[in-house]
Amino acid sequence: MNNKQMQVKYRCPSNIALVKYWGKKEGGIQLPANASISWSLSDLFAETTMIATTEVGPKLTFTFKGESKPSFEPKILVFLERISEYSEFVKTHNFIVDTVNNFPHGTGIASSAAGFGALAMCIADLEGRFENGSSEFYERASFFARLGSGSACRSVYGKPAVWGEHPEIANSSDMYAVPFEKEIHHSLSNWKDCVLIVDDGEKKVSSTQGHALLENHPYAAARFENAQKNIGKIANYLQNGDVSNFIALVESEALQLHSMMMSSIPYFTLIRPNTLAILEEIWAFREETKLPLAFTLDAGANVHLLYDKQYETEISNFIDNKLLVYCKNGLYLCSNIGGTPQKIT
Ligand code: PMV
Repeated sequence: MNNKQMQVKYRCPSNIALVKYWGKKEGGIQLPANASISWSLSDLFAETTMIATTEVGPKLTFTFKGESKPSFEPKILVFLERISEYSEFVKTHNFIVDTVNNFPHGTGIASSAAGFGALAMCIADLEGRFENGSSEFYERASFFARLGSGSACRSVYGKPAVWGEHPEIANSSDMYAVPFEKEIHHSLSNWKDCVLIVDDGEKKVSSTQGHALLENHPYAAARFENAQKNIGKIANYLQNGDVSNFIALVESEALQLHSMMMSSIPYFTLIRPNTLAILEEIWAFREETKLPLAFTLDAGANVHLLYDKQYETEISNFIDNKLLVYCKNGLYLCSNIGGTPQKIT
């Protein structure tokens, strides 16, 4: 056999869910119990270089910023193994991978969405099965990303992305995310996300463990039903520009996510006292200024501030004057919303 090497490099943004995925369906790998929708964060991304080779060697040689990172390898090996079932190319090649995030490591920001998104884009490109940039290509990349980390499948689109079957979202699927194709109202099309770093420690309960606790959760059925309804509602708000209902829904989703954690058996919390202090400040600020500022939360203590870019100065003053004291080492990271993965080389 001729030994062949192919190389590609992709940049893939992280994403933040507006309606949350929390809980899996049985019968497959990472199938969501309800549909979710996210915005992608163009300025918080991973860049991954991948070399596929038929030379004899280990299945995976992985480095993070050029340095070996054995703790990351098992997860990526599992990912490659899962994809092998669907891709002869992955089955028959070995991979040399280097990845880097543009946001500091250990900030508690989930790097898996950007990381698995970038890996999936590289594989879909190298595999060469669908034309780069076609909708089949993005679907394939999203399908692969899902097998690494569920939420990562939403990272391959610049537009808002919906993952999970939903009667009101055309072509939606549990297998991969699809772009939300409807036109977004101008009052919701130019927003930013500033992530306030409250806690940068290792999470006490991983997402995998958290999802599993939905299996015997007393409120699981009600939560999944409500999330499905919320997808229908938010789809309308995004199109008709109903900002106040958009904010109310996004905040409710964040609090429902954490309520599900607090009512799991066994229960747990990921928010910290400073998380709550920030939420109180946001509500007081909104009451006083009437500015459209929302928060959302990931599976962690950090707070995502979502706001229209036209209020950047006011929000930035608010962060500096009121919120910085609650941030670990005064750290926060801002990003524009949007931004598709890019092929770099
Ligand atoms: O993709 P996972 O398994 O890490 O799950 C992430 C779930 C949340 O970030 C809490 C919500 C979401 O939809 O992204």
